[in-house]
Amino acid sequence: MPRLNATARHLVRFTLNGRPVQGEAEPRLLLTDFLRHVLGATGTHVGCEHGVCGACTVQVDGVPARGCLTLAVQVEGCEIRTVEGLAPEPARLSVLQDAFRRHHALQCGFCTAGMLMSLDAFLRDQPRPTEAALRDMLSGHLCRCTGYAPILAAALDAAERLAEGPPDA
Ligand code: FES
Ligand code: FES
Repeated sequence: MPRLNATARHLVRFTLNGRPVQGEAEPRLLLTDFLRHVLGATGTHVGCEHGVCGACTVQVDGVPARGCLTLAVQVEGCEIRTVEGLAPEPARLSVLQDAFRRHHALQCGFCTAGMLMSLDAFLRDQPRPTEAALRDMLSGHLCRCTGYAPILAAALDAAERLAEGPPDA
């Protein structure tokens, strides 16, 4: 990455959920703050702000990443996917989102966007995960409400449904 002036604002351009976006950011601005405050994409949540809770997880070029550990200027030219991009249509949830709904896998919902973004990528890479693998993956996300059992049930259900049928269009 070229050397950046620490206080100057820089133009940052990337693709957000398939649409080109741009805005200005100081080099220190976090991706989460850029998404929420510059672009108004508030689906991505901010919890601990130091990489522990997973609430801020987005996908950068298809790979889950902590938005609170990523600078906005680092994603210049990347493809960013957030929870707003999961549903295949405005009135239709993705298979994973629908499994969360049916299994009541959220209460306050604060952790949910990050969980969904990690699970979406995980199930793409590992279509038939073991329960142990899912538990291990979910250990990277903190939920203070659910006790995790319904989240695990939703993840297993979604994995089964995705393995059986066509993926989300
Ligand atoms: S807000 Fe990023 S990991 Fe907690
Ligand atoms: S549903 Fe409240 S923190 Fe997870």
